[in-house]
Amino acid sequence: MSGAATAVKEYQVAPASRVGGEVTVPGDKSISHRALLLGGIATGETRISGFLASEDCLATLGALRALGVRIERPQPTGVIVHGVGANGLHAAAAPLDMGNAGTAMRLSMGLLAGRPFASTLIGDASLMRRPMERVAGPLRQMGAEITTHDGRPPVLLHGGRQLTGIDYAMPIASAQVKSAVLLAGLSAQGRTRVSEPAATRDHTERMLAAFGVRVDREGSAVSLTGGQRLTGTNIEVPADFSSAAFFLVAGALAAQDGLRLRNVGINPTRTGLLDMLQMMGAHIVVHAHAGGGEPIADLEVHASRLRGIEVPPDLVPLSIDEFPVFFIAAACAEGETIVRGAGELRVKESDRLAVMAEGLGTLGIEHTLLADGIRIRGGQGFGGGTVDSHGDHRIAMSFAVASLRARDRIRILDVANVATSFPGFVDLAQSVGIRISAP
Ligand code: S3P
Repeated sequence: MSGAATAVKEYQVAPASRVGGEVTVPGDKSISHRALLLGGIATGETRISGFLASEDCLATLGALRALGVRIERPQPTGVIVHGVGANGLHAAAAPLDMGNAGTAMRLSMGLLAGRPFASTLIGDASLMRRPMERVAGPLRQMGAEITTHDGRPPVLLHGGRQLTGIDYAMPIASAQVKSAVLLAGLSAQGRTRVSEPAATRDHTERMLAAFGVRVDREGSAVSLTGGQRLTGTNIEVPADFSSAAFFLVAGALAAQDGLRLRNVGINPTRTGLLDMLQMMGAHIVVHAHAGGGEPIADLEVHASRLRGIEVPPDLVPLSIDEFPVFFIAAACAEGETIVRGAGELRVKESDRLAVMAEGLGTLGIEHTLLADGIRIRGGQGFGGGTVDSHGDHRIAMSFAVASLRARDRIRILDVANVATSFPGFVDLAQSVGIRISAP
């Protein structure tokens, strides 16, 4: 899916000290995946606006088409899904290629485990290294037959098993695991209940409700009864907080006259970075809009003097995708920032603790890598140099933001996968004043 022949290979960023203006970042990745998947098994039509036309979401779209769902895209960000109903999916002719997208693979495991047919799920080199037993385990408890390869893809869902609801206490805080079990629960007999050790993003629960499914929440547990039908609906996808994050940090470093981010999803299970930046002293104003299923706001951020913090453990799952760019903020904050309890970062698109530590070190930032986190001593600014993103989109974009406190040019390698989550990143970054080029 990724690394197309024309793909950009590297970024070069020159030091700049000012950003500003107004931007709208592309649609939310997590919500776009879910709108497609739920639309696919609903009865009737689902119209999605603000869809994220990125490689990851297009992998989900392609997989659904291969499973027999008719999907139209009258505009790049406008999608019409003609749902096939609860039992309308059919076997794909070939393995389903999820590209770089962990969400596509793990949620599809839940969606497909209880079908009468078999499915094979594959992905790119990064996804083929990622752990899948965290989903396969609970699905097997529900009665599914699943084969992984040393716990990793290819994932073979044998199909043809009637699933039964379970009461599952997740050992890790993962929205993908929670969502996969709930999706499997839709086709299971009886009740499926998932409890989480710490709150994680709740887009699946909210969206199931929008499709007419009754989902109950008590404390840290969510449950639903199998056999409920989904009815097609309209989904407006807000701008992705995780993409806005790069501009929030850029603004906190260099928006002397402010930078405004429009229509950003501010679901509280996603906005841990906002809290962390505010704890550091960032001046961010939240202009909330009245909204539907997902809360939305314009975010206005001003250049601020940042101080190092110790990140509260409960904020870790609420900012899990934002740590690469948070580490850039930490490197610019006076004093020490400490992150612990973030071992999950080691099994993302790359080992984000190790890869960020390597890049921070190259750019002269003093730090100590921990098994489940990092200590960063900030305040001295970045030197120039060449950093390798190891194909991790969020790391590539994070080091572009470092240019706002850099003494020299930064070259960022292996950046093609930015297209998995943030098409148009270079143009948008240039428009606010980041001196980035993609030769
Ligand atoms: C996601 C959940 C998170 C996140 C990923 C998207 C989702 O993964 O890192 O980018 O859409 O459910 P985990 O569930 O593994 O924490």
